[in-house]
Amino acid sequence: MLNLSDLETIIKAAIFAPSADNSSPFKYEYHKNGVLSFYIDEARSGKATDEDFILSDISLGAVIENTVIQAEQLGYTAQVNLLPLPESAPRHVADLSFTKTHSATHNLADVIAKRCTDRRFPFKGPVKDEVLTRLAQAAEFHDAKVTFFTDKSAKKSVLPVMRHAESLRFESKILHQELFSSVIFDDPKPQEGMPLSTLEIEPPARPFFKMMSNWKTISFFNKLGVSKILGFRSVQVPISFSPVLALISIADNTRSEVIKGGQALQRFWLQAAMEELSVQPYAAAPIYSLRGLNIEPEFMPNIEQIKQDMEKVSPDGYYGLMFLRLGYTAKPVKHRTFRREMTSYQRQT
Ligand SMILES: Cc1cc2nc3c(=O)[nH]c(=O)nc-3n(C[C@H](O)[C@H](O)[C@H](O)COP(=O)(O)O)c2cc1C
Repeated sequence: MLNLSDLETIIKAAIFAPSADNSSPFKYEYHKNGVLSFYIDEARSGKATDEDFILSDISLGAVIENTVIQAEQLGYTAQVNLLPLPESAPRHVADLSFTKTHSATHNLADVIAKRCTDRRFPFKGPVKDEVLTRLAQAAEFHDAKVTFFTDKSAKKSVLPVMRHAESLRFESKILHQELFSSVIFDDPKPQEGMPLSTLEIEPPARPFFKMMSNWKTISFFNKLGVSKILGFRSVQVPISFSPVLALISIADNTRSEVIKGGQALQRFWLQAAMEELSVQPYAAAPIYSLRGLNIEPEFMPNIEQIKQDMEKVSPDGYYGLMFLRLGYTAKPVKHRTFRREMTSYQRQT
């Protein structure tokens, strides 16, 4: 059982977890028997790329990992039961029970609040091999594999598929809508979604970016190759000027493996924060290929191509889950995302 103050500390840690588009798509319920349940919040999930809740499952994996790590720091060992009722309650992602086993410790929980997404560039290097080993071990804790692309030719082998997937976000109306529905143009401190400042778009480029949020405008400019330029700007430039690109891969594309992949991603990210490394995830290419995607028929050959190209860069028999750009920066991130009030995460039954 958790006392009230420990429960609050644990839920706060869960809320700090990263999520696709800062949607924080989860709810929790703490039962009288001491079990903490996490659910996907259907009001904040299930659209476009998240059609089969794949992004939500990864985000819930990160929530679970923060919970386990925070509990560990408070002296509890957490037992995690993933997908307790997969048929009758598929959005019920996990049940956690806690046993007081040790006194309070210091661990990755120290950086739960510090971890964030950093979209600035360039990141500086080099990153020592021993640091990369610790990062890989963090993901391996949940049976994921990490591939590092550090030199020019290694990066060259993955940049085309990443560019392809990022450009598609401006070419498919469905993906374009999804992308811009999470960008908040007129509120600098939104409780969910991403304020413009966190996207690190240079102030002179912001009016152009706003114009691109209009589907008619972007589809006109795409005829002049703008989607390709945007893909180049968001992938090629930042990654070429950063010391490390990592790919976290998982052994299987089943739900439980994807949730575990989210746990691996979060443990990797917390380890990176511990090492003072900046991190920017790139989900598009792996997510479009993990289980395929239903978008406009004219773009299905693109999805198939991305899938084939991802197979070539992922370890044999593994599925890419997330690319991450890594490196050092001189100053901490200035513009961070915000979160909703704690009460909004509580499940009403
Ligand atoms: C499943 C998942 C997918 C994500 N995909 C991307 C991405 O493609 N590009 C990006 O810049 N950030 C991506 N992010 C980072 C989120 O936008 C970020 O976690 C969220 O806005 C909260 O901000 P924070 O990480 O600073 O707490 C992703 C995060 C998760 C968990």
